[in-house]
Amino acid sequence: MALLPPAADWYEKKIAKDEKMWIVLSVLVCLIMFAWMIIWHVYGKQNPSSVTYRTTPREFSQLCDAFNKKYQVGEDQGIPVVMPPAGGDVFLMAQMWRWSPVLILKKDQWYNFHISSLDLLHGFSLQPTNMNFMVYPNYDYVLKFKPNAAGEYKVICNEFCGVGHHTMIGKIVVIESESELGKYGYSAQYINTSAPPGNEPPAAPLTEEELAAKGAELYKSKACNACHSVDGSKLVGPTWQGVYGSTEKVMADGSETEVQVNDEYIRESILTPNAKLVKDYPASMQPQVISEDEIKAITAYIKSLK
Ligand code: CUA
Repeated sequence: MALLPPAADWYEKKIAKDEKMWIVLSVLVCLIMFAWMIIWHVYGKQNPSSVTYRTTPREFSQLCDAFNKKYQVGEDQGIPVVMPPAGGDVFLMAQMWRWSPVLILKKDQWYNFHISSLDLLHGFSLQPTNMNFMVYPNYDYVLKFKPNAAGEYKVICNEFCGVGHHTMIGKIVVIESESELGKYGYSAQYINTSAPPGNEPPAAPLTEEELAAKGAELYKSKACNACHSVDGSKLVGPTWQGVYGSTEKVMADGSETEVQVNDEYIRESILTPNAKLVKDYPASMQPQVISEDEIKAITAYIKSLK
């Protein structure tokens, strides 16, 4: 029961003329907007149509690694530069806070573009065009597209994804012929073409130095360098220099405690970064997609940073 009930016959009363006009007008606006949606989909300059598949960060990063290895022609600031054949699949991986690899595509050729994220939601925005996609982990976002103008394009992240969000800039270069590559500082030479197919002799176990060298590569390729310095300077995360063997104050389950930085703690911090977070650092790291061998290599590298 309302405090001030309306008159009993309010429902039967005729609506006023100007009220009727507004109803007609708003229905008309709805209809026009609805039609416009369909018209714009066909005639407007819209994002290319896409298909989405289920994947996992681990599966997607393996596909990316294989793709990068096969078609790599160089490296740009630690990120592989990859030139896939026209008409094929292309992989682009988003991760805090970078896009990998740098892609070299041919103008007027169709590509099957796969995009996914390794950690959290990022936004793919191709500059200076009007292409925008959400990039989720666990979804392989596939779109068919044909670059129609040569030049260098930047991939900007347009979803806030943490303190390094603004540094998350990738690159796609569209060329008409391979002779233009020099202009961008790249070459057309595939790096891994001579790799023997399969049956290599079993590798000897790596020495501590070799492991550390592998770890140093992973430090760049896994983008650890986005948050951890190796020279003692403070970034988003603690520096790796001199950290091995030290005792750190950490927050575990909301209370302060101390840990010794050893193999076990490093492994835990890579796989479940926020379990024991070093005090006064933000919980911005995501669990990493990484193998046990890679963890060993990174640990050896950290150990070597005295
Ligand atoms: Cu990735 Cu913002």
